[in-house]
Amino acid sequence: METDEVLARLAELAGPRGEELFAAIAAGLDGRPLTDDAALRLGTALRRTYPGPLVAEALTQAQLRERAAGKFGRAGSMFLTRAGWEQASPEIVARHRAARFASARRLTDLCCGIGGDLLTLAPGRDVVAVDRDPVHLWMARHNAAVYGGHPEALLADVREVDLTGVDAVFVDPARRSARGRMRTGDSEPPLEWCFALPVPAIGIKAAPGLDHDTVPAGWELEFVAVDRDLKEAVAWSPALATARARATVLPGGNTLVAAEGGPVEVRGPGRYLLDPNPAVTRAGAVAELARRTGTWKIDERIAFLSADEPVATPFARTLEVIDSGPWDQKRLPRRLRELDVGAVDIRRRGLAGDVDALHKRLKLRGSRRATLVMTRVRDRPWGLVCV
Ligand SMILES: C[S@@+](CC[C@H](N)C(=O)[O-])C[C@H]1O[C@@H](n2cnc3c(N)ncnc32)[C@H](O)[C@@H]1O
Repeated sequence: METDEVLARLAELAGPRGEELFAAIAAGLDGRPLTDDAALRLGTALRRTYPGPLVAEALTQAQLRERAAGKFGRAGSMFLTRAGWEQASPEIVARHRAARFASARRLTDLCCGIGGDLLTLAPGRDVVAVDRDPVHLWMARHNAAVYGGHPEALLADVREVDLTGVDAVFVDPARRSARGRMRTGDSEPPLEWCFALPVPAIGIKAAPGLDHDTVPAGWELEFVAVDRDLKEAVAWSPALATARARATVLPGGNTLVAAEGGPVEVRGPGRYLLDPNPAVTRAGAVAELARRTGTWKIDERIAFLSADEPVATPFARTLEVIDSGPWDQKRLPRRLRELDVGAVDIRRRGLAGDVDALHKRLKLRGSRRATLVMTRVRDRPWGLVCV
């Protein structure tokens, strides 16, 4: 009964009355954000004209749309639940993924949620969207239409869906339950079930911490970052796979494959330090990045590279080294003062230590901002000051 009432309210908000109500909310805000206080004030005023539950839903939607604006270009016309939009793929990532399904004509989006992926998958092809949550399913269909797609919506448990005649499946299993976030690799339905789907072209969205060994032979694991923010891993079935592991960095769409190649030299740091994008590190493509950029490793096991000339690459941040030597915590505050460093970001990789305690002990004074790198060079504890 409760679900029917929610669906009826959403349907009303998607029509002319909703348009009027959202316009009244926008007018009341006059460009200011919809804070809880503003929602309370506007709610009181709007309840004089509209039913209370409809006003409450409209205000919730307006707040969610505001929060989701960084994820979806058309968030202002979408319908969302908090759990739904938080779990949804950002549009830029969904769009990148959808490109790999370009040749699929009949596609099924299993576990479509509020449609974060569907809105890029549905336009221009025959798509069935499946979810067992009727509110999410309603939203997915509405949100896909905002982007010009018209999928068939199927309220069902994905395990009971007939996939006969389907070319391709995208599946984004839930990684949260009523008890909170599940462990990396756990999901509902489980990954093993997704790997065994009886369709040739399959893409599975998974947590970025997913272990390579979990993915069957012949499948690709693609790690996707937006700038330096690692968003997710996608497992591609052999029909769609183009490598064993791949790192992709958006918005540029630059992509790097973990290829076999000659060994990479290990030697002490030069004038520049390269901090690879987390997608590159997760994909095991640091050695390939070194080969491509002509850089070297500073330690066999640590994911930093080095060079004597500045390196421009979308796959790493390049820092200029202004001080480098064996890790010496006692000498560090004086050295930073000599370098006129007044603020540091501490990057720790391969060296244990309490970053907060170190920060306090440095008692910095100076005009420059620097990155303090705590790491290992050929297995010796090492410190670098970089700008
Ligand atoms: C991670 S969300 C999907 C997010 C979606 N890809 C997006 O970008 O908006 C997972 C969805 O899976 C649905 N779900 C979980 N188990 C299911 C099952 N066995 N059958 C159908 N839907 C299921 C949940 O209701 C939830 O909406």
